[in-house]
Amino acid sequence: MDQYQELLGQDLDHLWHPFTQMSLWPGEPPLIIERAEGNWLIDVQGRRYLDGVSSLWVTVHGHNHPAIKAAIAAQLEDLDHSTLLGLSHPLAIRLAGELAAIAPAGLSKVFYSESGSTAVEIALKMAFQYWQQSGRPKKKTFVTLEGAYHGDTLGSVSVGGIDLFHQIYGPLLFPVHRLPQPHCRLCRLGLNYPSCDLACASALEPLLAAHGQEICALIVEPRVQGAAGIIVQPQGYLRRLWEICRAHEVLFIADEVATGFGRTGSLFACQLEDIEPDLMAVGKGLTGGVLPLSATLASQRVYEAFLGRFEEFKTFFHGHTYTGNPITCAAALASLELMRQGDLVAKMAPRIAQLSQGLQEIARRPHVVEVRQQGLMAGIELVADKASGQAYDPALRMGHQVIMACRPLGVIIRPLGDTVVLMPPLSSSAEEIGLLLRVVDQAIAQVTEGGRP
Ligand SMILES: Cc1ncc(COP(=O)(O)O)c(C=O)c1O
Repeated sequence: MDQYQELLGQDLDHLWHPFTQMSLWPGEPPLIIERAEGNWLIDVQGRRYLDGVSSLWVTVHGHNHPAIKAAIAAQLEDLDHSTLLGLSHPLAIRLAGELAAIAPAGLSKVFYSESGSTAVEIALKMAFQYWQQSGRPKKKTFVTLEGAYHGDTLGSVSVGGIDLFHQIYGPLLFPVHRLPQPHCRLCRLGLNYPSCDLACASALEPLLAAHGQEICALIVEPRVQGAAGIIVQPQGYLRRLWEICRAHEVLFIADEVATGFGRTGSLFACQLEDIEPDLMAVGKGLTGGVLPLSATLASQRVYEAFLGRFEEFKTFFHGHTYTGNPITCAAALASLELMRQGDLVAKMAPRIAQLSQGLQEIARRPHVVEVRQQGLMAGIELVADKASGQAYDPALRMGHQVIMACRPLGVIIRPLGDTVVLMPPLSSSAEEIGLLLRVVDQAIAQVTEGGRP
């Protein structure tokens, strides 16, 4: 039995994969990735694939970057782990300072955890407790967007809005207010941008006027609803929400887990519209895509509501065993240093333009109803009938078929339903973006048009 067969047997015996229908998994057939070089993944059979999904939207500098590896190795010599509960360590301290320095203005305090979901969960708990301790205990509920995705923990699922992912857990979730999804092509209000004057954002105004006394915070994925299918918000949308929140004393939580660290073409998406959130969740690209570390950043005002005498019990009673692990902080510091030294965000501009040009070509395909892009995140939506917008039968799994057709052509991507998602590493070269576009175009033609080149 070769190595692949042996590993596959063990995988099928014992491994339960996330977001995966395990009855279909054996037939895919499963890829087993053993190594990586730069923006490429290499499987146990030695085949190379461009990592077009950035290993689930995390890869910033490519895999196995020597500077990040060296930082991790050096940290292992000094301190592998020590808790932040009642103790501190140099790297957690330095990283908190660096994050506060680069974050949108006003976010001066950093609370670590290990995933995007927990960073969001923490933001929700902080927002709730903030009002409990600021003399407004009735402010308990949240506003969120239809189609939002904020993670898998119960709080983050409660503020999420993707039925497919969340329906089953309904009885476990807390109720929220939902704003219409800012999806211009399928405008829920039946309007057109820009003559709509951002009515979907303005819908927050009457909601807060009526219920602001009971609402503690709004949570939003700034500029792009990622897991909803790369739904890009119209210019000005985010700022309108933020202004209405400020006018009604409702905290603004930016979930930059997917959009943070350069992905949108700005270091943080909030900076594209000059937003200063009260709380911000980051994860994914924080360590350059190497180790699980996330953070919730809070404003001084939020932080101060948690200060008091011990017996007042205003403490933020939250913290995980591995919170702020030093090795993960070392990776994050090295990644931020690389971004700074290499001027990564500025260097992405030509790649973003190249992606945009290629997407315009793909948009001409007869079953591509829309392409959406913000920075180096893009979605290509497939439909059965372009004129009417009639979707494919979900059982056909067209998005899945397209991404499987990419594999023999040397590209790994992941769809969201029938939206083909392109999320190349921020360090992608012109050749790599070119390959990604060519392969995806070919795979879409093959699957939706029966092979037309
Ligand atoms: C906007 C957003 N928030 C939160 C999360 C959850 O992050 P994680 O999967 O690291 O828990 C994701 C994951 O895709 C996300 O896109």
